[in-house]
Amino acid sequence: MDRMKWWREAKFGMFIHWGVYSIPARGEWVMFNERIPKEEYRNFAEKFSPDKYNPEEWVSLAKESGMKYMVLTTRHHDGFSLFDSKVSDFTAPKTAAKRDLIKEYVEACRKAGMRIGFYYSLLDWRYDAYFLGPEKDPDGWKDFVEYVHTQVRELMTNYGKIDILWYDGGWPYKPEQWESEKLNKMVRELQPEIIINNRSGLPEDFDTPEQKIPGAFPNPEIPERDWESCMTLNDHWGYCENDNNWKSPARIIWNLATCCAGGGNYLLNVGPKPDGTIPEESVRILKEVGKWLKENGESIYGSERGKVRFHLGTTTSKGNKIYLHTFYWYEEFALPNCKIDVINAYFLKDGTKVNYIKEDERIVFKNLPKTPPDKLNTVIVLEYEGEVETLEPMRPFP
Ligand code: GLC
Repeated sequence: MDRMKWWREAKFGMFIHWGVYSIPARGEWVMFNERIPKEEYRNFAEKFSPDKYNPEEWVSLAKESGMKYMVLTTRHHDGFSLFDSKVSDFTAPKTAAKRDLIKEYVEACRKAGMRIGFYYSLLDWRYDAYFLGPEKDPDGWKDFVEYVHTQVRELMTNYGKIDILWYDGGWPYKPEQWESEKLNKMVRELQPEIIINNRSGLPEDFDTPEQKIPGAFPNPEIPERDWESCMTLNDHWGYCENDNNWKSPARIIWNLATCCAGGGNYLLNVGPKPDGTIPEESVRILKEVGKWLKENGESIYGSERGKVRFHLGTTTSKGNKIYLHTFYWYEEFALPNCKIDVINAYFLKDGTKVNYIKEDERIVFKNLPKTPPDKLNTVIVLEYEGEVETLEPMRPFP
């Protein structure tokens, strides 16, 4: 499918969870988790006036970090729309912000040639019908679904070409109850090239494993369909002031390479503060990742599923090259269980030759530098002729 081509090559995207829940700063589920009544929750919207919101900065951070697309929460489960909507008054333009924050995001992406994604939650905690369901409250449910369909239509109509529609929050209802078929038919009529995820309950274009990577331990299965792992940078999606459990740049690179090894994408989240700025620690980590990608991006973008299993990291491939991602570094190690007619080996970072010994079923590396040439993940490129024969099936977990 041609429509998917750019997305398959892009590999790395920025997820952004931002809304009025950034004010209490206890994660995006705070309304539900703390049973905050909707009238009380509305007060956050009256304070949500992001005076430092500059989506051009978000886009330039995404670019610098090596990310090729962005997905922003246009409306999360709390029902607050960052966009202007005829069917809601719980929106950014109609509360303290007094502006359409999605419009500015779209403009910033478009200006910089960044692919544009919209996250949209089907569920809305402010609707009783959502909790009662279509059986107990058929009339309420009908109105609720109509509201959802209208908002999706607004998003697909008012902002020009959108590249990704990232649904969420379909549970516990079925696609028939959301009328997802009708909904997505409308979406595709309005946006013929759009890519839609699987969370309206219909498979559509790609699967969305959450906080886990197919093929990585302990998930041995790699799906046949297109997939994208979405993950947080600390333990929360929405801004959580006291969550300092950040993943290191090395871990992010590890996750990204492992996604690529299994043929998937990696959608990495940031949770901006109420003023619209991205937390400093997130910025620092992402920039480090971006530096690594500048030198090693060839092993990631447009890469294909790994062909060989490697116990000290993982492998990705492209054309007649295998990229050996070494998450753990040794002066001596071997790539086992394969027959590969290697004709050249070098560090991707700077092209320095790497010595290797071809054995029958192994490629052996000796006398490598004591410290890894790249401490975040040194990539060795193996150029080969002919076919790769793998004696043990690829399982891209380290
Ligand atoms: C879950 C959560 C939600 C988050 C999403 C990201 O569905 O409910 O808060 O937006 O995962 O994948």
